[in-house]
Amino acid sequence: MRYRLLSAFVASATIVLAADPAVYDYIVVGSGPGGGPLAADLARAGFSTLLIEAGGDEGDNPTYSELYTFNEAANDEATRWDFWVKHSDDPVRDLKFHHTTWDTGDGTFYVGLDPPEDAKLLGIQYPRAAVLGGCAMHNAGVCSLPQDDDWNIIVNKTGDTSWEASKMRKYLERIEKNEYLATGVEGHGYDGYLATSRGDASWVKDETNPATKIFKKMAELTGLDPNKVVEYADGDILAADEPKDFTNAFYNMVQHGGRDGKRASPNNYIRATLADPKKYPLTVKLQTLVTKVLFNTTGTVPQAIGVEIMEGASLYRADPKHKAGTKGPVSQIYAKKEVIVSGGAFNTPQILKLSGVGPKEELAKFNISLVKDLPGVGANLGDNYEGSILALANSPIASGLITLLFRTPTAPTKKRNIFTWCGSFSFEGFWPGFPTDYGPKQYECALVHMAPKSQAGTVTLRSADPQDVPEINFRFFENGGEEDLKELVDAANIMREAWQAAGDPALPFEELHPCPGPQGATRGANCTEEVQKEYFKTQAYSHHATSSAAIGADDDPMAVLDSKFRVRGINGLRVVDASAFPVVPGAFPSLPTMMLSAKAAEVILAEFGIVPS
Ligand SMILES: Cc1cc2nc3c(=O)[nH]c(=O)nc-3n(C[C@H](O)[C@H](O)[C@H](O)COP(=O)(O)OP(=O)(O)OC[C@H]3O[C@@H](n4cnc5c(N)ncnc54)[C@H](O)[C@@H]3O)c2cc1C
Ligand SMILES: *[C@@H]1O[C@H](CO)[C@@H](O)[C@H](O)[C@H]1NC(C)=O
Ligand SMILES: *[C@@H]1O[C@H](CO)[C@@H](O)[C@H](O)[C@H]1NC(C)=O
Ligand SMILES: *[C@@H]1O[C@H](CO)[C@@H](O)[C@H](O)[C@H]1NC(C)=O
Ligand SMILES: *[C@@H]1O[C@H](CO)[C@@H](O)[C@H](O)[C@H]1NC(C)=O
Repeated sequence: MRYRLLSAFVASATIVLAADPAVYDYIVVGSGPGGGPLAADLARAGFSTLLIEAGGDEGDNPTYSELYTFNEAANDEATRWDFWVKHSDDPVRDLKFHHTTWDTGDGTFYVGLDPPEDAKLLGIQYPRAAVLGGCAMHNAGVCSLPQDDDWNIIVNKTGDTSWEASKMRKYLERIEKNEYLATGVEGHGYDGYLATSRGDASWVKDETNPATKIFKKMAELTGLDPNKVVEYADGDILAADEPKDFTNAFYNMVQHGGRDGKRASPNNYIRATLADPKKYPLTVKLQTLVTKVLFNTTGTVPQAIGVEIMEGASLYRADPKHKAGTKGPVSQIYAKKEVIVSGGAFNTPQILKLSGVGPKEELAKFNISLVKDLPGVGANLGDNYEGSILALANSPIASGLITLLFRTPTAPTKKRNIFTWCGSFSFEGFWPGFPTDYGPKQYECALVHMAPKSQAGTVTLRSADPQDVPEINFRFFENGGEEDLKELVDAANIMREAWQAAGDPALPFEELHPCPGPQGATRGANCTEEVQKEYFKTQAYSHHATSSAAIGADDDPMAVLDSKFRVRGINGLRVVDASAFPVVPGAFPSLPTMMLSAKAAEVILAEFGIVPS
């Protein structure tokens, strides 16, 4: 990003490089889609910025720099942080999750529901990446925009109209380097750090391909024109000009990666900023765990003045390489202007709580001295529900991916609620060694619920030890659960019906789940709504956690941030990452978080009269 100074006077008065190298203007904690681009933007605008990241830099490691190896990346011990999460308060229900993971005690995991005698229950794996670039370095790079109301709700809550969906578009334009459309398409960007590309959809032209037949039937079942599938397959999911949220539509899947297959992420942007001949004042400190934010509490309002760090690799116990008892040297680093916490939806609330910012009772339990009672820290955790309908076809189906965003009949609003993509793959959630491979005949429609109603999840401390992993309970389906389950079942039923159009030799499909067995056009007695609801209730998985330190209204005691990302009741402290979204931002949070990060840069720099050019 480039910057233009609104007033040379203001700029020369405020942009001073830190004289003492151990004191920075800004300290940013965490280099993912939230913190990484923000730190680069602040440095590019002339502010001395320290970016602290617990992991290392794998930008030159092909497992990470190539996008198609994303499953290997998410399994890789080089960066993996294992969070063993709960999906509910009911241990019996959670123990029905087929890929429940156990520690056998001999350095291996057992995955399944019949563990060896002495195995210790770990829970449901939720992998995250501790690495320069955060989870954008191991994710699948799938791009979609939030629903407009996911931005607009911030306007409603805070009165800050700069969050209107139409005004958020410019951040996509600013960060994108579009490689799949002709240059100059309105609403897209072509010189940002984030390459976007998509695959070849020409397979759809083959009318004999069973996947094309399925695609046509999906169109028919969702009110679209089966004769237009070739046109639909070219649909741009990031387009500015479509009446998006209220229209069922197909798209060719877009990923944050280049046409050369290379992953695009904050890692590229940070490295480009460091390598730039303009010598921007960015310092990156890797393999450093931030243990807390430091405050000056002598005034009436606490002021964030720096962070405490512990230096070393694999210090956090979520890291499978962590060795019990390992610690590193502890020291303090100071910020003249602000500390920005961007540790992601699990670590941001943990860092705030360890620093004394969070629910009073919880902090008291661990003898953490209270800086600011903010009961919303670690609450409101949300995530997309994901599940799938998976089968073995009678013969392999070769095709690209079909992506469809559509509304199921009972969705509470007129907005579409399900993002699905179908093809010959298997994705059933996370466990050490995921995914399963059922061979060339596997065929799946993955289902993402875009507007989950629950958001009753929590991130709570287990101890005051910053090397400890907090307890994470998503409380799936706690609010509006029956409705969301019904919507997932309806989506699965539509996909199953579409499959019956695949024709010979692909049919019949032997379904693996939710309804095991040969399911024809009329579902067997085993495939009731109840059976399928139970399946999704116990087997839904997630990896898009957000909203655990959310922006909210002035009069909402659960609000953690104001509309300028400032932690309420504290000076010099912001949160910029996926934790800030009040509601789950559509089906895929990575791109929305990078847009939010670009907005944060603009908001912060505006205070110095600097506007992005
Ligand atoms: C397996 C997987 C696949 C996914 N696939 C997709 C996808 O296809 N499309 C999509 O849109 N989204 C996907 N996501 C989600 C997406 O990647 C995340 O929502 C996004 O990365 C969130 O960005 P963030 O900046 O909030 O947090 P993160 O990306 O988690 O970044 C936080 C960073 O902070 C660092 N950190 C944390 N605590 C500390 C500390 N105490 N001290 C120092 N550093 C710290 C971490 O090491 C990490 O690098 C996927 C996620 C996972 C886990
Ligand atoms: C915002 O508030 C208006 C007026 O109350 C309401 O009609 C609209 O649905 C709200 N939008 C969101 C996204 O909450
Ligand atoms: C702490 O804040 C007080 C009052 O706001 C100020 O006078 C003092 O200089 C600050 N101390 C530090 C170490 O920043
Ligand atoms: C908190 O402090 C009290 C009093 O010093 C002590 O008894 C208690 O064990 C401490 N609790 C924790 C969790 O450290
Ligand atoms: C229905 O379930 C029964 C009992 O679990 C099983 O034996 C049978 O094969 C199933 N039928 C189908 C069509 O899946």
